[in-house]
Amino acid sequence: MSRKLNVAIVGATGVVGSIMRRLIAAERDHWGEIRLVASARSAGRRLAVGDETIEVQALSSEVFDGIDIAHFDLPDEVSAEWVPVAAARGVVVIDKSAHFRMDPEVPLVCREANPEAARDRPKGIIANANCTTLALIPTLAALNEAFGLVSMSVASYQAASGSGKEGLEALYAQADKTAGIERIGTEPGDVRAVLGEEYDAPFGAPLALNVVPKVGGWRDGGWTSEELKVRNESRKILGLPDLKVASTCVRVPVAVGHSQAVHATFEREVSVEAAHRVLAEAPGVDLVDDPANGVYPMPIDGVGKPGTQVGRVRQSIDFPNSLEFFVVGDNLMKGAALNSIETAELVRRELEAR
Ligand SMILES: NC(=O)c1ccc[n+]([C@@H]2O[C@H](COP(=O)([O-])OP(=O)(O)OC[C@H]3O[C@@H](n4cnc5c(N)ncnc54)[C@H](OP(=O)(O)O)[C@@H]3O)[C@@H](O)[C@H]2O)c1
Repeated sequence: MSRKLNVAIVGATGVVGSIMRRLIAAERDHWGEIRLVASARSAGRRLAVGDETIEVQALSSEVFDGIDIAHFDLPDEVSAEWVPVAAARGVVVIDKSAHFRMDPEVPLVCREANPEAARDRPKGIIANANCTTLALIPTLAALNEAFGLVSMSVASYQAASGSGKEGLEALYAQADKTAGIERIGTEPGDVRAVLGEEYDAPFGAPLALNVVPKVGGWRDGGWTSEELKVRNESRKILGLPDLKVASTCVRVPVAVGHSQAVHATFEREVSVEAAHRVLAEAPGVDLVDDPANGVYPMPIDGVGKPGTQVGRVRQSIDFPNSLEFFVVGDNLMKGAALNSIETAELVRRELEAR
């Protein structure tokens, strides 16, 4: 194939879509046409992609004509309807919604763990995992290869932007409304009284001055959808169908960057030094681990970074085969846009080699 491939960003006006535009602009030379798509509400808006300004088109079957690869950054139910429409027109779709991730005929791809899976896409669809799982995978894939991962227990601290532009705007509005109120948060009910019920959306409770132990919808057994995604998507990407996973997902008043405290158990005893050696070389991982000098991963330092930050690596005192560590990943970068760009690169090279 000698021509340059054409690419679409579907959901180009969202928080993930805005990072997609920035990352695609950085690799402009690889692509022919760049097409921006969103809902009819945004049709006609002109958005920047690097030095270019491109008009947003409303989602329709025709917007996929001539497109080779489409990044879908849409709500689950909209992806469920429109991904098959694009795939039926011969477009390779890389979808970030939850809808297709566990379909056995849809590969769930993370370059650091299973790049070969991108080639096997009988439905023409590749799924991008959720942002919490993707923050973990580069670290888990490297440690699994070296020491054999048996189980993990994860507690997450997830940013407001994980709920899209609505989530980010809600956090800023709540922070504005509570700022400057003396000693707010020290009396029963005072934060709820200031914010009122209208501020419960989209997290189910106020997020300013609070943490909310519910990310996603409720599922059987008291689990949330996000907690089950961490388990099921990690198993699928790592190719470890029996991996034992426990997870508790919590929303925190952070703009961007999901953090996770991980207790991971391996087939054999693992020292901190051995883990450091593996993580220092692991693709997609930045080892940020010098606590004596105040160096450890935090979302305000991980935002915008392509690598996931790993630190606070400790050998568990009571579990010789286990490590404790802290991971921070930018949920909009590796957790969404960057992973999708990396997968598209695998597909682009394959299509261009034909
Ligand atoms: N945020 C994260 O950290 C993150 C991480 C991993 C995966 N994801 C997934 O990525 C996807 C996008 O998330 P986001 O956070 O970017 O959401 P968002 O900020 O709310 O953006 C949603 C996008 O979808 C478009 N859209 C909504 N309804 C539509 C419709 N009926 N027809 C066409 N376009 C429609 C919106 O266009 P308008 O502006 O025109 O409404 C907007 O471009 C979701 O599936 C999400 O689960 C998000």
